[in-house]
Amino acid sequence: MWCWIRCLTDSIVFILGWFVLITVMMKIIFGPTRVQQLRDKVFAAVMNFIMKDSLRRSFESTKKELFSSLKAVKSAHLELQKKNALNILEVGVGTGTNLEYYPAGSRLLCVDPNAAFEKYFRRECEQKAAHLDPDIQFVTERGESMPSVADSSVDVVVITLVLCSVSHLDQMLREILRVLVPGGKFYFFEHIGDEPGTWRRRIQNALSDSGLWPLLFDGCVLNRDVEPVLTAVGFSAIEHHTVLVAENKARPRSSPSVVVSPVNPILYGVATK
Ligand SMILES: C[S@@+](CC[C@H](N)C(=O)[O-])C[C@H]1O[C@@H](n2cnc3c(N)ncnc32)[C@H](O)[C@@H]1O
Repeated sequence: MWCWIRCLTDSIVFILGWFVLITVMMKIIFGPTRVQQLRDKVFAAVMNFIMKDSLRRSFESTKKELFSSLKAVKSAHLELQKKNALNILEVGVGTGTNLEYYPAGSRLLCVDPNAAFEKYFRRECEQKAAHLDPDIQFVTERGESMPSVADSSVDVVVITLVLCSVSHLDQMLREILRVLVPGGKFYFFEHIGDEPGTWRRRIQNALSDSGLWPLLFDGCVLNRDVEPVLTAVGFSAIEHHTVLVAENKARPRSSPSVVVSPVNPILYGVATK
């Protein structure tokens, strides 16, 4: 047992050490901005690859269930209301894995701090967004501060797998409240820290607190407790569920990939402004 723990910690230190050394050398040679741009490009390409197939399918049924209630949301904008369409803001849109769930004719504004995602997002729009208003915007901004989005202007805000890498969670949730119309809906689908004391939580703590996971996955933290912040920030109502998500439909929830996966459980639901 101790031998395994020793082996794990040695591997983390080894990988971290090399990663830091290479990053520092590249920053000295190319400058910090160029290195950040390179990291953004690599992360966008990696996300595009892993979100294409099995990981995407593993989220499909939970997302379908979550977004099915979108059709009952009424837009605050009269012309959209007549078409049963919505004014939607997606924060941290990445490659655009949620387009198919949005009601026909809806207007979509997307925000993401990583400009390298836009080319993958536009490609996805060509395949999956024919039913939406064609004027889809992609703005390079952080969710913590979205000056391009007016106060009380959007019917629905969507985030999926974003809060794990946001530095100021409460600030971002307050910003979401600011842009929502009164009674507007906030849809979220996020991986969170497991219950304290569980094996998964111990693994999440080791990978996140050592800095290894955030370093490899764009600041992603596995052991974040999102629910207390969500509750404290001032939504009038919050409806949420927690599930363990299988890697793909064919695998049962008791399969090792689900039991061990640190990107679990998933907290999903809808909050109302
Ligand atoms: C794991 S990806 C998820 C992408 C997409 N939402 C999905 O479900 O496929 C995380 C996304 O959050 C974005 N992100 C990271 N920090 C952010 C922030 N502070 N504000 C908004 N988006 C952020 C990243 O650029 C990336 O596109």
